[in-house]
Amino acid sequence: MAIRAIRKFPDPVLRKKAAPVTVFDAELRKLVDDMVETMYAEPGVGLAAPQIGVSLQLFVIDITVGERPDALIVLANPTILSATGRLVEEEGCLSVPGIRAEIPRAETVEVHGWTLDQQEVTLKGRGLLARAFQHEIDHLNGMVIWDRMGKVQRELLKSEWKRSQRQTQKR
Ligand code: NI
Repeated sequence: MAIRAIRKFPDPVLRKKAAPVTVFDAELRKLVDDMVETMYAEPGVGLAAPQIGVSLQLFVIDITVGERPDALIVLANPTILSATGRLVEEEGCLSVPGIRAEIPRAETVEVHGWTLDQQEVTLKGRGLLARAFQHEIDHLNGMVIWDRMGKVQRELLKSEWKRSQRQTQKR
């Protein structure tokens, strides 16, 4: 296992629609192991493959950040089957470091996808888990949290973010 570098916005890989996973082999398992280790190291509650530069429809989520081993979710080729309700809560992204924003999301979602054992699964999420599903699936469609913000919120936070990026580069 290895901790991989997180791609940061505006890296073009974050804007690409990811390709479906078709080969479920040892290499894919190794990629997932790296994604899980990288997610826990940051730490984050979710990580999509494009965030480490691999444009595949694959994400890992653990809203307990390693507290409960059975909470780890690994899903390939996920799609949202249904979404209900609406919650506006603060959200961040490892690829847009330092930015937290109030983002509206569905309160509950049902997600279909494939496990590493090529089993079809349908998972239900509510609250933070539902938010994580939607956030990671956005990454697989080339979307980042900027796209979920209103125009004013986006412009304000983007200038703040650009300033912080310049300061990071100077250091
Ligand atoms: Ni993200």
